[in-house]
Amino acid sequence: MFDAIAPRYDLVNRLMTFGLDQWWRRSTIAALALPPGSLLLDLACGTGDLSRLALHSHYRVIGADLSAGMLAANRTGVPLLQADCSQLPFPDSAFDGLVCGYALRNFTDLAGALAETARVIRPGGRIALLEVDAPRAAFLRTGYDVWFKQVVPRLGAALSDREAYDYLPRSVAYLPPTPALRQILADAGYSGVGIRPLAGGLSQLLFATRIGIPGQ
Ligand SMILES: C[S@@+](CC[C@H](N)C(=O)[O-])C[C@H]1O[C@@H](n2cnc3c(N)ncnc32)[C@H](O)[C@@H]1O
Repeated sequence: MFDAIAPRYDLVNRLMTFGLDQWWRRSTIAALALPPGSLLLDLACGTGDLSRLALHSHYRVIGADLSAGMLAANRTGVPLLQADCSQLPFPDSAFDGLVCGYALRNFTDLAGALAETARVIRPGGRIALLEVDAPRAAFLRTGYDVWFKQVVPRLGAALSDREAYDYLPRSVAYLPPTPALRQILADAGYSGVGIRPLAGGLSQLLFATRIGIPGQ
């Protein structure tokens, strides 16, 4: 599916979020608060929007994604690897930090994937994960339902791939609720887990610090 939508992925993203996704991505990079030069993994990097902003913030970045099509459309110039989130081809504690944008709900074993992220991040390292959300406020929720469930699938069908953009609103249901997400991150080996709604709950930002001893 991601191979199919790769060529127009960025265009549809900008249109369906009115460009707000770039603002949310900047918040994601800012949430890392690591020193310049820190090495980041952009997990499920896709076309590399988060990598690009991380480079602007003077981080070093490696991107990994399962989709060859997404990697082919990635023009960031950072080193890229085709890899599954459940089995990352990196040694323990290889990275100072990790970002992941809009991919968690696609991971069939989310707990396993987050445990794998903890393995490749050094103790004291940071993660910042950007995901979709659904607004709680009634007025926002109504607009969101119309836009996300009715307009976005049509926009996606017109510009890209109908099936993929039908899946998008449905995929929100695969993301565990906030308390469960906190627990999964804690169980994976993270402390100080924070979850911040963005734009009234249109997206959400999860951040945490890696605890533990290298290799454990
Ligand atoms: C919605 S896109 C997000 C791309 C990019 N992170 C962004 O912020 O725009 C989801 C990405 O997750 C990748 N993905 C899905 N399952 C994966 C897995 N098991 N391992 C690694 N990447 C995966 C897809 O190939 C796709 O590039």
